[in-house]
Amino acid sequence: MGEFKLGFIGGGNMSTAIFKGVLKSGVQSASDIWVSGPHIENLHHWSDMGANVTTNNKTVFMNCDMIFLGIKVTKLSEVFQSIQHPKQLNKEVLFVSMLPGILINDLHKMIKYSLPLVKTTVLRIMPNTPTTIGAGICLYTPDNEVSVEQCSRFKKLLSGSALCEEIPEYLMDALGALTACAPAYMYVVIEALADGAVKQGVPRATAMRLAAQMVVGSGQMVLQSGKHPGLLKDEVCSPGGSTIAGIAALENGNLRATLINALEASTIRNKELGNK
Ligand SMILES: NC(=O)c1ccc[n+]([C@@H]2O[C@H](COP(=O)([O-])OP(=O)(O)OC[C@H]3O[C@@H](n4cnc5c(N)ncnc54)[C@H](OP(=O)(O)O)[C@@H]3O)[C@@H](O)[C@H]2O)c1
Repeated sequence: MGEFKLGFIGGGNMSTAIFKGVLKSGVQSASDIWVSGPHIENLHHWSDMGANVTTNNKTVFMNCDMIFLGIKVTKLSEVFQSIQHPKQLNKEVLFVSMLPGILINDLHKMIKYSLPLVKTTVLRIMPNTPTTIGAGICLYTPDNEVSVEQCSRFKKLLSGSALCEEIPEYLMDALGALTACAPAYMYVVIEALADGAVKQGVPRATAMRLAAQMVVGSGQMVLQSGKHPGLLKDEVCSPGGSTIAGIAALENGNLRATLINALEASTIRNKELGNK
């Protein structure tokens, strides 16, 4: 990738997951990656893997061509203040925002204020933490000025770690709830199923491992069979059998309504976060 430099402002959980994925894809060497954060001691894992670390956000801005914003929404204006640059620059910068609820237009307003003469574009994304192990999803919406080349470079960087899917921005809050929040719902499901097995006398480690593998397999069945999940469910439920007995218990516990409500709560919260 030649002189291209990749940056991260904020080196926490999600940035780290993307960083590891980028290294795994092999398209960018760690020595061409910069990260900044207020506490250098929290960035040791980046320097251990060969990246350049700094407490100065401006250093990342000045050095890099594509910059992931991996900070909490509440830090956004502070970050743009820290990279203010009133002059022109001999390069174009692509900001990749993973901030929930923050519209591309609003980001452009902040950027225009801090970097009035710098040519910038914005790619809004919603990654998820399974990116760390190469099984992620990364939703993305480019602004109208992001070039085809910038987009394909972005996808290439994530190619080893996440399925990248372009979506219209208006779906970002709801689909982001599904892909970035719902992994946590699934961890609760796996833990609860394992608890159920433990209650029936199964050792904890075995219960957890097999519950997780079962969830992986069930997802793969939906993807690879092309069958509706309702039909797949019917195929497991023999009349008067043990599975339908369990399904009836799930319906008594309102599992479907609970999951629908959970997704709605996460979507609403995504929107609220953008208004902070
Ligand atoms: N985690 C997920 O599954 C996920 C998924 C999709 C999107 N997101 C979004 O991604 C963003 C980051 O989330 P996260 O889970 O990675 O949070 P996190 O682990 O708390 O990371 C936030 C990072 O920002 C750094 N930071 C704080 N103030 C800063 C400043 N002024 N300048 C530069 N860096 C600063 C923090 O450094 P210190 O720790 O040293 O203070 C920390 O490393 C959030 O907006 C989140 O909503 C997260």
